[in-house]
Parts: sequence; structure tokens; C-alpha cells
Amino acid sequence: MGISVPPTPELTLADGLTLMPPRLEDAASYYAALRRNDQRLRSWLPKPALPSDGHEEQIEMTKLLSMMETGYLHAWLMVKDGSIVGSIGLGGISVEEARPGIAYWIDVEHEGMGLMARSLEPVVSWALGPRGLAQVEFQVATGNMRSHAVLRRLGLTPEGIRRSSLKLPDRVHDAVVYVASKSHWPPEHQSQLDSAIKVDDENLLRRLAPDDAPAVRALAAHNTGRLLRWLHWMPNQKVAKNHDRLVTALIERSLVSREVTYTVIHEGQLAGCVTLCEPDSDNASEVSFLLSKNSNGKYGVVGCVNVMLDFAFSQLDVSRVQIRSLATDQEHASIPKALGFQYECSLKNAGRSIDGYVDLEIYSMTATRWENR
Ligand SMILES: CC(C)(COP(=O)(O)OP(=O)(O)OC[C@H]1O[C@@H](n2cnc3c(N)ncnc32)[C@H](O)[C@@H]1OP(=O)(O)O)[C@@H](O)C(=O)NCCC(=O)NCCS
Repeated sequence: MGISVPPTPELTLADGLTLMPPRLEDAASYYAALRRNDQRLRSWLPKPALPSDGHEEQIEMTKLLSMMETGYLHAWLMVKDGSIVGSIGLGGISVEEARPGIAYWIDVEHEGMGLMARSLEPVVSWALGPRGLAQVEFQVATGNMRSHAVLRRLGLTPEGIRRSSLKLPDRVHDAVVYVASKSHWPPEHQSQLDSAIKVDDENLLRRLAPDDAPAVRALAAHNTGRLLRWLHWMPNQKVAKNHDRLVTALIERSLVSREVTYTVIHEGQLAGCVTLCEPDSDNASEVSFLLSKNSNGKYGVVGCVNVMLDFAFSQLDVSRVQIRSLATDQEHASIPKALGFQYECSLKNAGRSIDGYVDLEIYSMTATRWENR
């Protein structure tokens, strides 16, 4: 006797958005929507089978519907104002498969409106509820910053990085794995900074992304003497010598931990990077920054660091934030001073540069001092 599988439900969201199980008569409009987005989707999703004519479309849709009948796959069309604007698939469901996977895409004209995060929430709730699954998994290429932002908004935290596990049309990618589990659903809301934060009319903070690698390389090349201030970000000297790998390492760390790195965009140009480190076991954090030469104090850097501090104290509830400064670099030290940090001490040989050990100055801000500033 077969196990009865709950049918894929229609899920209605606010603002005229509905998640509808596909029907045979949706074939033409579904494949037309997929075709419009084909090039763009190839960067992040396995190449879909795109039928060449109406007859082929009917055959492909029939195959999809029969997979849905077996319970191996559940699919939804995202329908807004009568048009198909994307789709979501929950697939790989079998007795042997511990973790079925969810894949999704949205039409380019509907991107960036928060539709996907809102749509995934009821899908996961149904999968872990009425559908009876214990876990569902998301595999996202490390460079797919939009998709990471969606899963963060959903409240999911990555489980880790699966190396060379995601075969996409261009190459094999490393993938970050997110898991939604019945025992932890819905997840606790975690405070997070937006992907882009307007600081003032001239300055924007934007989450570091793979496309920033050339600009970060140029920034680092112009600041070789000052790279010390980035030293604790660098897992080792080999990474320090290869700035592309440095960007990858920083992005990966911001995906799998609560450390986060933003670029400082001044009048459209990358003028620096700011990192807020994951709070340690004593609930203290650290802010580091690399600025374009002579940009200290200018380019709203103080304002940018201020945004990170505000988040650290008011949302993460850290007890203390530290800034380490090269003892000989008063320009760098001017930033914590301008923000009201307190000079604490000088540490002998506490920093290691490519040329050897150097003294560092420690500046601190406590939660109480921040509140009373
Ligand atoms: C990933 C995708 C589904 C996101 O859908 P969406 O409806 O635009 O997502 P949302 O509007 O809910 O969220 C977009 C997030 O990306 C951020 N974002 C927007 N543009 C960005 C960019 N150029 N780089 C990085 N992040 C960006 C937004 O700020 C938002 O983050 P926030 O909530 O922290 O502010 C959509 O971009 C897509 O279809 N991409 C191609 C297919 C794909 O990647 N599928 C997923 C495979 S794992």
C-alpha cells in the first residue's frame, strides 16, 4: 500500500501574491517567464530544460506534474496580479533522502521587493508541518549574495560550506548550506544589518560582495604600509598576499559567522572597508577598517563606523567594542578618538606585519560610555 502524500497546497500571501501549484494550462506562460530570465538564472541555478515549442512545453509540464503526483516534488508558481513572477520547488523527497532541497527564482522586474523571503516562509512551514518533513536544505553558491540575504531574512543560519558541491552552468561552485529543521522552526529572529545602508548623502555602506574584489585589490595595493590594520582579519600571510582570496575569505566568514564586512562607497567609489567582528565569549567585539589613503576623517568614515557601533551596542548588546591601531599611525587613531573611544594601553609586539612585530594601541568603547556619550 502506498503512503499518502499531501497534495501541494495553494498558499495565499498579502499584496496579491499567491503560490499556486502548476497546471498543464500554465505551461506556455511558465516557460515564457523562465525564458525571459534564462541568462540571468544560469549564474545561480542549474540550467533548466527549456522546451523549444508549445508541444515540448506540454510534455515538460506533464513530466513535472507526474513527479508532483508521486510526492517526489512539490512546485509552486509565484503569481502576482495574474502573472507568473517566479517559482519555488521543493524536491528530492524520498525515503532515503534525509534532506530534501528547496530552489527558487524570481523575475528580474520583481527582484529586490522582499517577495522571495515572504514566499519561502509559508513553503517551509508547510514542508515541516503538514508535509511531515524533518528538515529541508538550501544550497547557495558562496557568491550569490542576494540569495544569502533572502535566507538570512528568513532567519536561517548557515550550517557550513560544502566545497565544490554545486554544479552550475559556468563551473562548479562552493556552496553554503542552510538547513531549516522542524525542531527549530520558525527560527528565532536575529538582528542583522541590511545589505545596503545609507549613511548620509555621500556615503553608503554595502555588504562586501565578490564583484568588489578588483576595487579591494586596488585599495590594498595603495595601502600596503597600512595593511596592518587588517591583520587580524587575515587567517594567514598567504591570504594576505592574495587579495582576491582575502575578499573570498571575508565573504565566507561573514556568511558562516556573525562577522560582517561592508564596503564604504563614497560618491559611487569604493573608499574603504569596515568589519564588525563576531562578539567573543565575553560579549566583546572589535571594529576594523581599511581606508583609501588619506581618507581618514573624510569620506564620512566616522559616520560609517558609527553605524556599525550603533548596531553592535543596540542590537547585538555587546558590552565593549575595541579598535586596534598601529602605534605609529595617528591618522588611523583619529577615528576612534573622534568617536569618543578611550585610549587604554599600548601592547608591545602585539601586531605582526609582513616585516615583523609592531606595537599596537588599544582604544575601547563600553556599552555604558556609548549610551552616555
Ligand atoms: C535570489 C532571488 C530569488 C532573491 O529574490 P528577491 O525577491 O529579489 O529577494 P528579496 O527582495 O527578498 O531580498 C533581496 C535581498 O538582496 C539584497 N540585494 C539586492 N541587490 C543586491 C545585490 N546586487 N547584491 C547583493 N545583495 C543584494 C537586498 O538588499 C535584500 O537584502 P536585505 O533584505 O538584507 O536588504 C533573486 O535575486 C533571483 O531570482 N536570483 C536568481 C536565481 C537565484 O539566485 N536563485 C537562488 C538559487 S540558491
